[in-house]
Amino acid sequence: MREALTREFWDERYSGSERVWSGRPNQRLVEQTADLTPGSACDIGCGEGADAIWLAEQGWDVTALDVSLVALDRTARHAIERGVDDRVKVGEYDVLGSHPPRKPRRSKGFDLVSAHFMHVPREDFDDVYRRIAAAVAPGGRLLVVAHHPDDVESGARQSHGPGLMFPPEQLLAALGVAGGSSDEWEVEVADDPVREQQMEDGPMQVRDTVVRLRRRS
Ligand SMILES: C[S@@+](CC[C@H](N)C(=O)[O-])C[C@H]1O[C@@H](n2cnc3c(N)ncnc32)[C@H](O)[C@@H]1O
Repeated sequence: MREALTREFWDERYSGSERVWSGRPNQRLVEQTADLTPGSACDIGCGEGADAIWLAEQGWDVTALDVSLVALDRTARHAIERGVDDRVKVGEYDVLGSHPPRKPRRSKGFDLVSAHFMHVPREDFDDVYRRIAAAVAPGGRLLVVAHHPDDVESGARQSHGPGLMFPPEQLLAALGVAGGSSDEWEVEVADDPVREQQMEDGPMQVRDTVVRLRRRS
């Protein structure tokens, strides 16, 4: 299953078509950042850059990271086309590597670290999300959005592989906040809301895992 998290896999997937994703920002990102003051942001697994560009348009200074060079190239190009290239910096990052994302210079981390639909094997899960979380500054937020495993049971989507989709509780447990909050994190959102998504066969009700944590100062 780790093959689906490699540069080769994703470069080939992106190279196969002009555009893989819609170009629109993820609904949960828009909802979950509405009450935040723009600062520095890091989008992990940025894909073609829709979320990074939207954040930049809201005033965030964004570092957009992905393992795929084709994805990063598209993100950079789309940022130029939308006139926000001064606010979007792209960079290579492999979530299965051993380092957290590099923090902005002269800072203790990002004000927002977001990861949307980053599904990793269960054996890597805790380490991957702990590394990602390590890039959040004191007072900053971690926002993780994923497909909820209920979607497989409801028939809304096919399994991406055993254990890849996860409920909010799995992320909370990985970060030591299973019981609510911890000395390190305040749980602001841990939810599994439903939305309508246009699929090939028509609109479907899909469930998202949505977790927003604030690192205590
Ligand atoms: C399902 S797509 C989601 C893209 C984007 N976040 C969105 O919501 O539209 C997953 C993204 O993660 C990236 N990715 C896959 N494996 C990765 C890895 N090992 N390290 C970093 N990014 C990875 C892929 O290249 C792809 O752009």
